[in-house]
Amino acid sequence: MNYDYLDCAVQLAPSHPKGLVLSNPVMTASGTFGYGIEYIDLIDIERLGAIICKGTTLMPRNGNSQPRIIETVGGLLNSIGLENVGVDAVIKDKAPVWEKWRVPVIVNVAGETIDEYIQVVEKLEGVNGISGVEINVSCPNITAGGMLFGADLKIVAKLTRAVKNITSLPIMVKLGPNVTNVTDIAIAVEDAGADAISLINTLKGMAIDIKKRKPCLGNISGGLSGPAIKPVALYMVYEVAKAVHIPVIGCGGIISAMDALEFLACGASAVQVGTANLIDLHATTNIVNGINEFMRDNNIKSLHEIIGSCLP
Ligand SMILES: Cc1cc2nc3c(=O)[nH]c(=O)nc-3n(C[C@H](O)[C@H](O)[C@H](O)COP(=O)(O)O)c2cc1C
Repeated sequence: MNYDYLDCAVQLAPSHPKGLVLSNPVMTASGTFGYGIEYIDLIDIERLGAIICKGTTLMPRNGNSQPRIIETVGGLLNSIGLENVGVDAVIKDKAPVWEKWRVPVIVNVAGETIDEYIQVVEKLEGVNGISGVEINVSCPNITAGGMLFGADLKIVAKLTRAVKNITSLPIMVKLGPNVTNVTDIAIAVEDAGADAISLINTLKGMAIDIKKRKPCLGNISGGLSGPAIKPVALYMVYEVAKAVHIPVIGCGGIISAMDALEFLACGASAVQVGTANLIDLHATTNIVNGINEFMRDNNIKSLHEIIGSCLP
């Protein structure tokens, strides 16, 4: 079926000189789709709006102790602990492959100090094959005694400004839900110069093996994702979209085209699909198809007729 007549393109960095245009609003969420390269022979990745790679740190990381993943009702708890190959390997081994793709790749960046984030983003500057950076602020800030970056409005703003000053790439800041007021943090991130905001990361949780009388995860706690968190994510996206003037990217529990459309109606310009990739390899491409079919069946020519349609 040819849907070329539908206008599904979205601009995620309208104020940035380079911009960040996606052919459709469906991206993969960080940590659930590797570096995209693993999927080349399995799905048509060129049909995706963008790929967001695994959280990248300055040095390679082994992550947390096992077990690191456990299913819960309607969701998944993970405590991967940012296992990744490190920024140098991303530049050397992954970016040359990405460079040949039409689909934009956004590098998700993590760190324990502002300086670590800066060093990673500096290394990404000028590397072909990278279209943007997503700053994951749900990391423990070791200079603030292990408190989450994303929980402190002033630190998130400082981090955003610092990163923005040293890169020519569009920057999106990914917020987590484990905060008192996500809207205030989103406004601070916008004021600090972010091009876009993505939300939400996982919700802090735990599971117990009652026979062993022990936590299921080696790390005791983990991050909850999947359909169980969708209503929380949807509400946070709605609230943030009302409060900021930069694009918002919705994430959390999206497994179908209808889920994605709900986020768009709540003001998201695009969506990220995470846990659904672990259930069905074709989750993202099925969502792209489903959005096209919904538009065709409801005589909607442009996605912009849907984006923000539920906002007051
Ligand atoms: C196994 C796993 C690993 C993840 N790793 C990262 C990561 O490295 N960086 C990040 O910003 N988010 C990470 N996330 C969070 C997801 O990108 C996403 O924000 C979250 O899972 C909510 O979306 P979902 O319900 O569609 O999975 C991870 C999630 C899972 C399930």
